[in-house]
Amino acid sequence: MLLFKVIKGVFSRSSGVKYPLARKTGSTNSVLNVGGGNKLIDIPAHYENWEHLLLDIDPSSGADIILDARKLSTLTAEQFDAIYCSHNLEHYYAHDVPTVLSGFFHALKSDGFVEIHVPDMRAVLTRFVETGMEIDDILYQSPSGPISVLDVIYGWGKQIESTGVDFYAHKTGFTEVTLLAALKRAGFTHIWIARTADPFAVGAFAFKQSPTATQISRLGLATG
Ligand SMILES: C[S@@+](CC[C@H](N)C(=O)[O-])C[C@H]1O[C@@H](n2cnc3c(N)ncnc32)[C@H](O)[C@@H]1O
Repeated sequence: MLLFKVIKGVFSRSSGVKYPLARKTGSTNSVLNVGGGNKLIDIPAHYENWEHLLLDIDPSSGADIILDARKLSTLTAEQFDAIYCSHNLEHYYAHDVPTVLSGFFHALKSDGFVEIHVPDMRAVLTRFVETGMEIDDILYQSPSGPISVLDVIYGWGKQIESTGVDFYAHKTGFTEVTLLAALKRAGFTHIWIARTADPFAVGAFAFKQSPTATQISRLGLATG
């Protein structure tokens, strides 16, 4: 059975090496933060007291696992309770997105889930067209500075320029519909597409099997 629900509100190790999970004493759940940037960037409160492992391609990120997320199949299978992937999935070419998502599926426990946040291209382009704004005009102010329409489409120009690396560029984009379709194709069976607090982003929770009552409650998933 496939569930598609829209909910409101809410919300260094070398490549190719099998990476067993090293738990901190007392933690019972683990979340892999893919493309997390650095550990100063908050992750949602529902992961409080979880083991938090950061994975990023950028060696300067201080990530626990330095890896291109297109290689997640090299990690030990079924080891994480959750994968959190915020503003990262748009950093892959469209043809690489299935590889990344199947890597999520591979690394998640059978009762695990992935949480994804990406720019909502429909919302961004609707604002662009309806207001008659210019493409390099500021769309919104982020904690890191102003973000233009161009930044959302192609990646944050300031960061791409200052780092000189193209993994900060955006290479694809999503709407609610295409994000749902990509998750379905990757094998996720129970999927919630979520509005986020950010009006220019779309989120998703996707499970390999029916979520537990605890997961539904903790994540605030709408049922029925
Ligand atoms: C816009 S930042 C998002 C940071 C954070 N998750 C957030 O929501 O603010 C994108 C991150 O994706 C990482 N990234 C880009 N390409 C990647 C890849 N192929 N594999 C893993 N991480 C990648 C970048 O290094 C960067 O840290």
